[in-house]
Amino acid sequence: MKIGICSDHAGFDYKTDLISHLQANGHEIVDFGTHSTASMDYPDVAHPLAEAVEKGDVELGIAMCGTGNGMQMALNKHQGIRAGLCWDVEIAQLIRQHNNANVLVMPARFIPFEKVIEITDAYLATGFEGGRHQGRIDKIPCI
Ligand code: RB5
Repeated sequence: MKIGICSDHAGFDYKTDLISHLQANGHEIVDFGTHSTASMDYPDVAHPLAEAVEKGDVELGIAMCGTGNGMQMALNKHQGIRAGLCWDVEIAQLIRQHNNANVLVMPARFIPFEKVIEITDAYLATGFEGGRHQGRIDKIPCI
């Protein structure tokens, strides 16, 4: 799978290690930054990732910042983005099954890296259920 990924400085170390994990599992990764632990503004990487997902340049996205909330807020400003904030595996499965989330967001400062791996693997392994959930996500975009 071709996956876009981004983080701010708070998620940089996790992003680096997560990219290695995903590549080892055969995924193609597009890294939208940031590229160091220097303080930066999460919207500067969230918006390019969102645009790549909307255009279909990548199939899914993964984003991390300290709490995950800044990333999620910026990503969800895009009409074609459904970004879900996850801190455990069951939520990761549900944002795919029920919300067809096309970006996974995680709070780097609040979960251990082992949890990041578990959540990411669960997210990528789970599909959308469709049915009643399709009608619900169709109502999300603002007209
Ligand atoms: C950075 O200090 C922090 O504000 C950021 O990573 C994120 O938590 C914002 O939502």
